[in-house]
Amino acid sequence: MPYLSTLCVYYFLMLLNPVMTNTITEDIEVLVFLPQNNSYPFSHTRVSPAILYAQQRLKTDGGQYSGFRFNIHFENSNCFNDALFVLVDRSCGRKPDLILGPVCEYEAAAVVRLASHWDIPVISAGALAAGFSNKNAEYSHLTRIAPSYVKMAETFTAVFEHFSWRSALLVYEDDKEERNCYFTLEGVYHLMADFNIKTYAVSQEDRLDTDDILQNIHDTEVVIMCMGADKIREIMLAAHRRRLTNGNYIFFNVELFNASSYGNGSWKRGDKYDNDARQAFASLNIVTLLRTVKPDFENFSVEMKKAVEKAGFLDCKDCGSVNMFVEGFHDAMLLYAIALHEAMKNGYSKNNGSEITSRMWNRTFEGIAGQVSMDVNGDRNGDFSLMAMTNVEAGTYEVVANYLGKNETFQLLPAFNADHFTLRGRHKTHTEIPDKSCGLGVSALTGVIVGAVLGTAMLIAFYFFRKNYRITIERRTHSEECDTGKHRQLREDSIRSHFSAA
Ligand SMILES: *[C@@H]1O[C@H](CO)[C@@H](O)[C@H](O)[C@H]1NC(C)=O
Ligand SMILES: *[C@@H]1O[C@H](CO)[C@@H](O)[C@H](O)[C@H]1NC(C)=O
Ligand SMILES: *[C@@H]1O[C@H](CO)[C@@H](O)[C@H](O)[C@H]1NC(C)=O
Ligand SMILES: *[C@@H]1O[C@H](CO)[C@@H](O)[C@H](O)[C@H]1NC(C)=O
Ligand SMILES: *[C@@H]1O[C@H](CO)[C@@H](O)[C@H](O)[C@H]1NC(C)=O
Ligand SMILES: *[C@@H]1O[C@H](CO)[C@@H](O)[C@H](O)[C@H]1NC(C)=O
Ligand SMILES: *[C@@H]1O[C@H](CO)[C@@H](O)[C@H](O)[C@H]1NC(C)=O
Repeated sequence: MPYLSTLCVYYFLMLLNPVMTNTITEDIEVLVFLPQNNSYPFSHTRVSPAILYAQQRLKTDGGQYSGFRFNIHFENSNCFNDALFVLVDRSCGRKPDLILGPVCEYEAAAVVRLASHWDIPVISAGALAAGFSNKNAEYSHLTRIAPSYVKMAETFTAVFEHFSWRSALLVYEDDKEERNCYFTLEGVYHLMADFNIKTYAVSQEDRLDTDDILQNIHDTEVVIMCMGADKIREIMLAAHRRRLTNGNYIFFNVELFNASSYGNGSWKRGDKYDNDARQAFASLNIVTLLRTVKPDFENFSVEMKKAVEKAGFLDCKDCGSVNMFVEGFHDAMLLYAIALHEAMKNGYSKNNGSEITSRMWNRTFEGIAGQVSMDVNGDRNGDFSLMAMTNVEAGTYEVVANYLGKNETFQLLPAFNADHFTLRGRHKTHTEIPDKSCGLGVSALTGVIVGAVLGTAMLIAFYFFRKNYRITIERRTHSEECDTGKHRQLREDSIRSHFSAA
């Protein structure tokens, strides 16, 4: 009898044991940077409920991460310098253990640089620009939980290789402030160095000169655009008038964050051009994020909608839906918990930021909407969908192919029609081998960068530093090699913050 009870106790302890040794208790200071301004799809109102949801779920599910007590502080980010200043000011007392955000490229660049220096892990669903891929130095502690623009560009290389296209014109709108479209297509430019790529920037203020744009497409096969919906329609209508939409050119539009505004009926405005626009859009294809859904997601999605409504934020119809940022920041909490737990089990402390960061990379875990796969460089592999108009009479779109980043496969779906992507009315185009030795392509882009940086400088009205700035850039333009040219934009940011702090 005593023997049996000992055995019982023994088994009871055996059962408890894994739970007891696996749960680690720790307080974690988290600093989150999100804009209060609700015009951003990653505003505090929209994203913070997802972070709190993840915190709650980690705590209550009783699993191995339930011992982590996340102490979350939300701070404003304004896409300029707010986040950096807050980080510096707050860190006079105690430095945070984890930073979530910022999303905006320029602000993220400054924060990540400082955090990397201080050995603090940063996870962002933004900072998507190509420059952040270089994790060897200043961005060493950045983990990107949403697929970057270069990952998106893999979709284009896959499509181009599949159809043996060689050349493209990139047309993008540049607001010279946050520059989302500039960075989006910079990803394509960066990755497609072996293709014949030209760029064309459209300024946000100026009238759209469709003639000038279309003049540039003659020696290319494909046009890839990133622009507001109205401008896209204007260009497509102009292309249609010039008979450039008969299959002799293929058009693409990149729309990652607001896919609901494209697809069925995006050509429709209720004006006299609707019919032409519908026909023109038959040659416009859309690259967007692949949406996956799993049962867990339903509850999450409903809860997010409730939280946004509770915050009294009802004035936009798209606001309740879960976007890439909402999902990403939720999964950021899970990824950090996994990595921290693993690191602590192996004898490291939460203060070893580089160790925790490296454990977030090169792994796959179950996120709120499906599997999340991080590459060895700490950037999320992305899955993207290619949408095309499959019914020209009705003007409706369908997903015709998917690109899966993890195993780099391009999957054709039943709705796919090879005819739609066949270039017609042209003999095999003779495309010259792109000049990779700092030739026209790179210097054209450099010109764009220089112009835009000066534009930004003027916007902030730091007239005194503009002179220094121009000199710096001119010197670099002459001396720097090809490769760094592509990252110059984010490097210049250090100059900007340096001067604005002075
Ligand atoms: C919010 O951001 C938008 C667009 O960036 C800007 O037009 C607006 O003035 C901002 N609102 C506030 C209150 O700062
Ligand atoms: C998404 O697109 C729709 C339609 O074009 C627009 O009304 C809405 O403001 C957009 N949302 C965001 C977050 O940009
Ligand atoms: C979501 O799950 C939580 C906890 O399991 C539950 O309290 C809540 O009611 C669920 N929400 C919905 C909309 O089902
Ligand atoms: C963090 O861990 C690494 C090993 O991955 C070690 O080399 C380094 O000294 C540790 N840093 C601190 C601050 O403990
Ligand atoms: C990434 O993970 C795989 C298996 O999970 C491993 O074989 C590989 O060596 C890892 N790569 C790096 C660079 O750590
Ligand atoms: C467009 O409409 C068609 C037919 O109504 C539907 O099958 C398709 O899923 C819709 N596509 C999108 C992107 O909404
Ligand atoms: C790639 O992954 C997807 C799903 O993750 C799978 O369906 C597909 O078969 C894989 N393809 C290859 C070539 O491994």
